[in-house]
Amino acid sequence: MRILFLNGPNLNLLGQREPDVYGRTTLAEIEAKVREAAQKENAQVDFRQSNLEGELVAWIQQAKGKADVIVLNAAAYTHTSIALRDAIAAVGVPTIEIHLSNIHSREEFRHKSLIAPVCVGQITGFGAYSYILAVQAAVNVNVT
Ligand code: DQA
Repeated sequence: MRILFLNGPNLNLLGQREPDVYGRTTLAEIEAKVREAAQKENAQVDFRQSNLEGELVAWIQQAKGKADVIVLNAAAYTHTSIALRDAIAAVGVPTIEIHLSNIHSREEFRHKSLIAPVCVGQITGFGAYSYILAVQAAVNVNVT
């Protein structure tokens, strides 16, 4: 099982960025926890972050045939990006949407996710633990 974790804009600032909302754990610390959880499940992890929408689109396109599941925290692009939505639909790699914060309990503009309809499901509101839940969801994605 190969899991591609993609992180969108400003997630490189985790730890210092609005800690009341996103916690104090850095993205590097989250990556370490994800690798630990994935190892227990015999899953391989590729973990990336970009502030650029086009780069995220390119990585989703390249995932075809290379990743079994994509775990995507698209950050602000969740609410704006038809390009990300179309890329997910185009490649057909099962994609799990995740967020640290609960997007449904925040500002109204965060309630709408443009990528949700093309994702397997959504994990939102568990802080850094959303990423660990995503590992569990990814390894069980084909379990019905
Ligand atoms: C986020 C939620 C988004 O609304 C926001 O733009 C982010 C982070 C989250 O993980 O809680 O940058 O995706």
